[in-house]
Amino acid sequence: MEFDITPWLNLAIRWLHFITGIAWIGSSFYFVWLDNHLEQPKEKKKGMSGELWSVHGGGFYHKQKYAVAPEQMPENLHWFKWEAYFTWMSGFALLAVIYYLGADLFLIDKSKANLTQAQAIGISLAFIAGGWVFYDGLCRSPLGKNNKLTGIIWFLSLTAAAYVLTHIFSDRAAFIHVGAIAGTAMAANVFMVIIPNQKKVVAALTAGEAPDPRLGQIGKQRSLHNNYMTLPVLFLMISNHYPMTFSNPYSWLILAGIGLVGVMVRHFFNLRHKGKNSPGLVFAAVALFILIAMFAADAEKASRARFAQVAASFSQVQAIIGKHCTSCHAATPTHDSFDEAPGGVMLDKPELIQQHARRIMEQTVKADIMPLGNETGMTDEERALIGKWIGDGAKR
Ligand code: HEC
Repeated sequence: MEFDITPWLNLAIRWLHFITGIAWIGSSFYFVWLDNHLEQPKEKKKGMSGELWSVHGGGFYHKQKYAVAPEQMPENLHWFKWEAYFTWMSGFALLAVIYYLGADLFLIDKSKANLTQAQAIGISLAFIAGGWVFYDGLCRSPLGKNNKLTGIIWFLSLTAAAYVLTHIFSDRAAFIHVGAIAGTAMAANVFMVIIPNQKKVVAALTAGEAPDPRLGQIGKQRSLHNNYMTLPVLFLMISNHYPMTFSNPYSWLILAGIGLVGVMVRHFFNLRHKGKNSPGLVFAAVALFILIAMFAADAEKASRARFAQVAASFSQVQAIIGKHCTSCHAATPTHDSFDEAPGGVMLDKPELIQQHARRIMEQTVKADIMPLGNETGMTDEERALIGKWIGDGAKR
């Protein structure tokens, strides 16, 4: 029996990433909600800045917030950090398993940049680490005092990164990398700023000193940035399944637009938690989303117009598929990296090509995802021919 460990490793790490991501985002949404709903305490204790009652799972909870710190350290203090650390570590491991080990297939797009595996991985690491260095520097600089301005500069920088990355990496890899840059900043905010500052506060209290209130304020700012990055990052993590978002020349703009929709939705909830309802914001977000969808469809049509003219016979299509696809997509693939047909898709029989026509359209004609890594150098004309054949009803 031949055992291929890669897909199992992929599954295990992805599952872990998913679980820890839910735990991280869930607890951070909860604390944002909590913070925004606090009321003036009825009986004021020293240092207490707010309180709130809630009911959940058969019991009542009474929470109290101490803005800087309580007078005395409690015996048991719960921290929230491992969710963030494990989300980042599993995310990075997943990136390495898919995009570094499989760089030729998943990361590099030779039609954009003729990179070696080492070069591509180097660029990937430089963007991820560089993103954090830039963002952290921005927050610490005088500009960092203005929260809105910092947010706008960071958003524009990520858009610029998206522009560059979509021009050197495969489309799918570029989107995941923008997500990885933002996700790394979020996790590093917890690891490098929020938790260390909290530790300093605890140390000061334990030593009987008054903690510096600035430490908490800095942590709060980073936490706010994380809050607004969450929804855009979640979109980027699932973007791989939606070729219409990245398979056109303006993918970086679409990425920025959908990111903005995420920020607006998050803002709506933040305002709502504070008792300010702003339905206009939701309408604007939905309108923007629809506008992006129309724009993407239009850009797609413009790039597809090129194959409206060509005529295509089934034998031509079959020859193209034989040349570019069946090394992987066959009952017994001949490609080194695959022992069985990837995704269960086999294209080595005429009826199978017909059966998968719609998916071929998505993967090969509308998007340049397949052939994976385009090692055989499939041309635009070949894609156009297949598109025409499918468009005409995929007949034999
Ligand atoms: C180097 C190997 C390789 C080659 C060559 C290749 N594919 Fe794939 N294909 C894959 C892998 C791996 C997957 C599943 C994972 C993924 O989506 O990346 C896949 C998935 C697919 C899917 C299913 C996607 C979905 O989820 O709907 C289709 C359809 C497809 N390929 C069509 C093609 C066509 C058409 C060609 C030729 C133009 C082609 N592939 C060439 C490796 C390959």
